[in-house]
Amino acid sequence: MSKPKVIVTRKWPAEVEAQLTSLYDVQLNENDIPMTANELKQALLTADGLLTTVTDSITADILNIEGKRTKIIGNFGVGYNNIDINAAKNQGLIVTNTPHVLTDCTADIAMLLLLMSARRASEGERLILQQQWTGWKPTQLIGQKVTGKTLGLIGFGRIAQAMAKKAHHGFGMKILFYAPSQPAQTIIDDLQAVRCETIEELLTEANFVSLHCPGGDGTRHLINEERLKIMRPSAHLINTARGDVVDSTALIRALKEGWITGAGLDVFEGEPNINPDFLSLDNVTLLPHLGSATEETRTAMGNCVLKNISAFFTGQNPEDRVV
Ligand code: DGY
Repeated sequence: MSKPKVIVTRKWPAEVEAQLTSLYDVQLNENDIPMTANELKQALLTADGLLTTVTDSITADILNIEGKRTKIIGNFGVGYNNIDINAAKNQGLIVTNTPHVLTDCTADIAMLLLLMSARRASEGERLILQQQWTGWKPTQLIGQKVTGKTLGLIGFGRIAQAMAKKAHHGFGMKILFYAPSQPAQTIIDDLQAVRCETIEELLTEANFVSLHCPGGDGTRHLINEERLKIMRPSAHLINTARGDVVDSTALIRALKEGWITGAGLDVFEGEPNINPDFLSLDNVTLLPHLGSATEETRTAMGNCVLKNISAFFTGQNPEDRVV
C-alpha cells in the first residue's frame, strides 16, 4: 500500500523530519520560506495531511478550495487561531494541535519576561552593549522586587498554572487569576490562589499581570486603553499568549505616559511586524515569540503531530483533535 502524502509548511526539527520521511511520502520545506495562499491551496489538493504551524494563515478561502485531498491538518503549535476552525469544521476536516508539551517552556519565558521587566534587564544590557556603563552606582537602574509580590493571571489553563507554580513556590508570589471556568480545588489549594470575579478586579490588585488566554476574535484587544488605565502605575504586563489580545497602540501610550511601569512581550499584533514605537521605549522587553523555543519542546511538538497523524492514518481518533 502506498504511503500517505503529507506536506510540511515550514522547516521542522531534523529528528522529526527524519521520522516523517521514513513514514510518509513527505514534502518538506527545506528553505523554510512561508508558503503563499496559492501554495497552501495546492497543498490541500495534493496531500492527505497538511502539517501547518502558527505562522500559516489557513483562511476559509484556502480551506474551501474544491477537490481537496487533505483530510487532516496537523498544526505544530498549541494555539490554532491561525486556522479558520469553523471553515475547517464545515469542510469536514480534522484539525489537531500540540498541547501539554510546551507548557513548562512557555511558562519559563513568561517568568523570564516578568523578571526582566521588573529588574530592567533589557535596559541594563543595552547600557553595556552601547558601551555607556561607567560602573556601579547606588541609584542606577533601580527596578522592583519580585519575591512576595502579586501575580495576576488572565486565563488559568496549563501554561498559566505552570507559571503560577514557579512564581508561588519559587518566588513566594501571591496568585490571583481570572478564568471562565473553576479549576480543581487541589490546584487552588496548592497555589493558595484567589479567583477574581472580574478582569478589572485582577488588574487593580496585581503587581504583575500575565496573559494566558487564546487569541482570536473573542479576546482581541481584551487589554485596551480603559483596562491599562486601571492597572497600578507600578505594574508590569506580560504577554506570551497572542499579540492581538493587547491593543498595542494603547500599550505604547501606557508605557510612554506611565500608566504602567513596564511590559514584557513575546508576541505581537501583526507579528513579525512590530509597531516601531516599541523599539524606542526603554521600559519594554521584547522577545521574538520564543515561548516554546527549546530543543526538547520543539522536538516534542513535532512528535505530537506525528502521533496525531499516525492515529488518523491508522483509522483511530487523534488524541489532540480540536475539530
Ligand atoms: C503555540 O504553540 O501556540 C506557540 O505560539 C508557538 O509554540
